[in-house]
Amino acid sequence: MTMQEIDCLGVYTSGGDAPGMNACLRAVVRTALANDLEVMGIRRGYEGMIEGDFVEMERRSVSNIVQSGGTILKSARSEAFRTEEGRQQAAAHLRENGIDALVAIGGDGTFRGASKLYDEHGFAVVGCPGTIDNDLYGTDQTIGYDTALNTAIDNIDRIRDTADAHNRLFLVEVMGRDAGFIALNCGIGGGAELILIPETITEMGMVKERILSLMTAQRRSTIVVVAEGDELGGAQGIERALRDDDAFSDIELRSAILGHTQRGGAPTASDRVLASRLGVGAVESLLDGHADVMVGLTNGELKLTPLRNVYGRRKSIDYDLLKLTQILS
Ligand code: F6P
Repeated sequence: MTMQEIDCLGVYTSGGDAPGMNACLRAVVRTALANDLEVMGIRRGYEGMIEGDFVEMERRSVSNIVQSGGTILKSARSEAFRTEEGRQQAAAHLRENGIDALVAIGGDGTFRGASKLYDEHGFAVVGCPGTIDNDLYGTDQTIGYDTALNTAIDNIDRIRDTADAHNRLFLVEVMGRDAGFIALNCGIGGGAELILIPETITEMGMVKERILSLMTAQRRSTIVVVAEGDELGGAQGIERALRDDDAFSDIELRSAILGHTQRGGAPTASDRVLASRLGVGAVESLLDGHADVMVGLTNGELKLTPLRNVYGRRKSIDYDLLKLTQILS
């Protein structure tokens, strides 16, 4: 595809929102306008695409949003888009509005859907990786991850103060249904004594043994960071098991689930810059004729990866980092 073949660009955010999505939207809209394209915002991701919930975007539509969390276009997880009928309706609305190319900001599910729009209906789509989970292959970091990580660390620091004051054991659950990037890195950065992630096998026997040995070695407090997707059932699953065990009857235990606090808030500088670079990169890639790819940042350079390789693969955590906790705690 050449530059002249794109007249109108559609942009949407989909799946779990992530801080920095707005900065990315701003970059997409302003780059497209600078290249004389019309821009349509699609509200609520694939749900809005199916319903034809579109809004024309101008320079001012994205003023003063670089610093805000959430997404001005709103987001959704769409069941209807998983059906062929749903996708046909969405494609019809895109055509009616003259949209001939798309930038999709989101994660794994967003890119699966985007790739279907390309395969089944021929829309040129470029993805920008936006998810706090940081689990997307093809980019060192996803938009929103750095902010979520810093929110988690900030909360762990606060929890440490009160844990220390009472010599308590805290189970801190962070987000990450299938991935332990937040848990691993906020655990290391927050000085957690134990980190439990979905990528490794976690045995309750090992968890109990480690906590008992840490807390009987005259420690002032112990923090266990657990990813929500860990197979022991997150903080609540572990808490139940510990409360049922007499060996823990003298240990004061509390759980804190950080949950959606990690999804909100102003994006960090790093997320704003990443989001801006990826947004510009996505539009420029479309203008250069690329489609069905995600634009990521690897070793400081923009890199394109076919969408099917992104949702078909899993980004691996750094197992050396896990070993660090054992040395440091
Ligand atoms: O994918 C991002 C994420 O925040 C996961 O870490 C979490 O499991 C999930 O979204 C929660 O989704 P929802 O907000 O739809 O409950």
